[in-house]
Amino acid sequence: MNVNNIAAVLGKLDYEIFVLTAAHEDRHNGQIVCWVVPATIVLQTPRILVGVGRTTFTRELIDMSQRFALNLLGKDQWPLVTHFGFRSGRAMDKFATLPFEHGATGSPILQGTVGYLECQVRTVLDAGTGAHLFYLADIVEGKIVADRNPLCLHHLPELLPQEDLATMRRLLEQDAQCHLALFNESRHQR
Ligand SMILES: Cc1cc2nc3c(=O)[nH]c(=O)nc-3n(C[C@H](O)[C@H](O)[C@H](O)COP(=O)(O)O)c2cc1C
Repeated sequence: MNVNNIAAVLGKLDYEIFVLTAAHEDRHNGQIVCWVVPATIVLQTPRILVGVGRTTFTRELIDMSQRFALNLLGKDQWPLVTHFGFRSGRAMDKFATLPFEHGATGSPILQGTVGYLECQVRTVLDAGTGAHLFYLADIVEGKIVADRNPLCLHHLPELLPQEDLATMRRLLEQDAQCHLALFNESRHQR
């Protein structure tokens, strides 16, 4: 297996960047996600699949409320990647300085995005130790806010300041090592 060849093919995918938001009782939060895939071809029953890390605060809120929203960022909204993707909302309110409203699912809807989808969890697929959880959800609401180019993963190297890029690479590497360790542990237990 040549991981570089595989990465080159995967690099052709766009990986649009979303802020995944959720709320439960008086708490709300959001995190960056790019593992988002439409999961139906039937227009009348729109569904989506989202990969969420086991340890994020947003995932806890989704588990409690069974609802979430996906806010599709515009290319000009790249500063929100560090805001929502580099730290956890457990110790801070990520919405304290940002304009938003609560959508039909109660999840925060950010202003100035390309558009949003509101979702009700149908089932959670557990891909095993070390892997993300995959939320298959019915899309119950959705709206284009401002029709323009979405922000994609491959835009980040040209948009993020060098030090933020370095932080992002460090966080992703830490995440990858942690997942790899868990994968290896579960392989040895089998
Ligand atoms: C570019 C980028 C893409 C990311 N994609 C995902 C993703 O698809 N799924 C995920 O669970 N976390 C992803 N993350 C990491 C979370 O956004 C990050 O762990 C966040 O701090 C969690 O916040 P929370 O604990 O407040 O929920 C991504 C981060 C970045 C910077």
